[in-house]
Amino acid sequence: MKILVCDGLHESGLELLRSADGVHVDAPDRLGMEEIRAQLPEYDAMVVRSRTKVTAEMLENAVRLKVIGRAGTGVDNIDIQAASARGVLVMNTPGANAMAAAEHTLALMLALARHVPQATQSMREGQWEKKRFMGTELYQQTLGIIGLGKIGSIVADRAIGMHMEVLAHDPYITPEAAASLSVQWVPLDELFVRSNFITLHTPLTKETEHIINQPALDKMQPGTCIINCARGGLIDEQALYEALKSGHIAGAALDVFSSEPPVDNPLLSLDNVISTPHLGASSIQAQANVARTIASQLVDYLQHGIIRNAVNFPSISSKAYERLRPYLTLAEALGRLQGQLYSPIERLEIEYSGPELHQLPLQPITQTVIKGLLEPVLSEMVNLVNAPILLKERQIKLVTSTTSEPRGYTGMITVRVEGKGQKSSIAGTVFPGEGARLIRLNNYRLEAELEGINLLIQNLDRPGVIGFIGSTLGDHKVNIANMHLSRTREGTKAMAIIRLDEEAPPKALDALRNHPNIVSAQEVTL
Ligand code: NAD
Ligand code: MLT
Repeated sequence: MKILVCDGLHESGLELLRSADGVHVDAPDRLGMEEIRAQLPEYDAMVVRSRTKVTAEMLENAVRLKVIGRAGTGVDNIDIQAASARGVLVMNTPGANAMAAAEHTLALMLALARHVPQATQSMREGQWEKKRFMGTELYQQTLGIIGLGKIGSIVADRAIGMHMEVLAHDPYITPEAAASLSVQWVPLDELFVRSNFITLHTPLTKETEHIINQPALDKMQPGTCIINCARGGLIDEQALYEALKSGHIAGAALDVFSSEPPVDNPLLSLDNVISTPHLGASSIQAQANVARTIASQLVDYLQHGIIRNAVNFPSISSKAYERLRPYLTLAEALGRLQGQLYSPIERLEIEYSGPELHQLPLQPITQTVIKGLLEPVLSEMVNLVNAPILLKERQIKLVTSTTSEPRGYTGMITVRVEGKGQKSSIAGTVFPGEGARLIRLNNYRLEAELEGINLLIQNLDRPGVIGFIGSTLGDHKVNIANMHLSRTREGTKAMAIIRLDEEAPPKALDALRNHPNIVSAQEVTL
């Protein structure tokens, strides 16, 4: 397995990767974007920080790539959609640099309040300007935090320690959860109006882009200070420039910019702006932490399939994975069976029943059913990450449900498909120690293993049919491994699932299909 480390990674992370069995690591010095694109086809995994922009073009020829590891929090330098469409997992290290970013926020807020960088510069110029750099205390001032996540919460805690009044706005956090941190949850406009200092700690999304814009700045009290250690795009920089220039906003401390490194950004020319070159995560501890975290996540995924902190797939802990594994095998087989039995599919319905399944994360199982369903019919690579995207592209409607109705099994998955007015339903379960079993195929009750090559034969329930099937396969040198029979009512139609040791040749299948009592004969590979 080959891993390309594109950006500087702390030695402790590199060591962890290099010591993993079967892993080869290349960590060249500052590769250009074109060089990364050219080399990527050889690699199974890549590690980036914020310097490398992982674009759709960069991924175009990355045929072996399975996972992108982002040593950090923000994944806005990675085209997640393009990665997902190619089935590439994207992982980050949420929280691993939160302390560093929170402390940097506090450093900037204090420096802004007391003009530390400007005073340093003035002294360097031989001045002693005590009056010019009159500051403000933070004590009893109001801090408004936008985004009360990992970093916002640490900032809140430290600000409370400095006896600031702390307000927060976060639509995904309840007022009760904020109150448990001694923070008052307020609507955004109220935060703008009441705060003396405003600090941003949200991801950059469509919803948060330019959350600080002209109307927001107009609502703020004269003399408000703004700190941004999250993402530059959260602020309309032109509007902030005007507000700082007019003095309505007293000062801004910026660690992040809409374009990095900033080129000719007028904000940097203002005396009331202090800035750092995206240093929020630049502490020795945070760099070691993100490097070790991403390295161990990558190794766990590449060697054991354990997914942690993926932004385009639900996380599965190793404990949950052990319990999930037999159901993932069942899900894939059920999907593969329906995918080969039935087409075209317009609607896919997956129903989960039984107490064991109710305790497990179902999303990975759903994505595994879809993978199984699409893999036999698509030429492109299908995996758990791109399966839902491919399903959508093929305009197949997905419905999932859970039922608490007792069906007699600890965990049962039913996969129903519909299309062109036809329906088909199959169900399976996991028998402890024995593995996945097909227990229902439309109206037939069965108990068939779900693996290998299988021949599904529907026939009229007449004497002699099973003998004919056996002799026809024997005549074509096809060995039967085992056979399961089922019928709905005596004398009606019957179903046989015959596990074969090798594929039946087309001639054998034709002979079976031409028998007057055989309704259908279909070979599937599970
Ligand atoms: P987090 O996911 O723990 O917290 C983000 C919070 O923002 C969440 O609580 C979320 O509910 C909230 N949020 C989302 N949309 C919102 C909206 N419209 N209004 C208000 N709140 C909203 O993330 P985190 O680890 O705290 O990181 C926060 C930001 O800091 C991210 O943008 C991250 O990329 C950035 N970051 C920067 C540096 C740096 O070097 N400057 C370092 C680490 C993280
Ligand atoms: C992050 O999102 O983790 C920070 O911006 C720091 C970094 O980019 O390394």
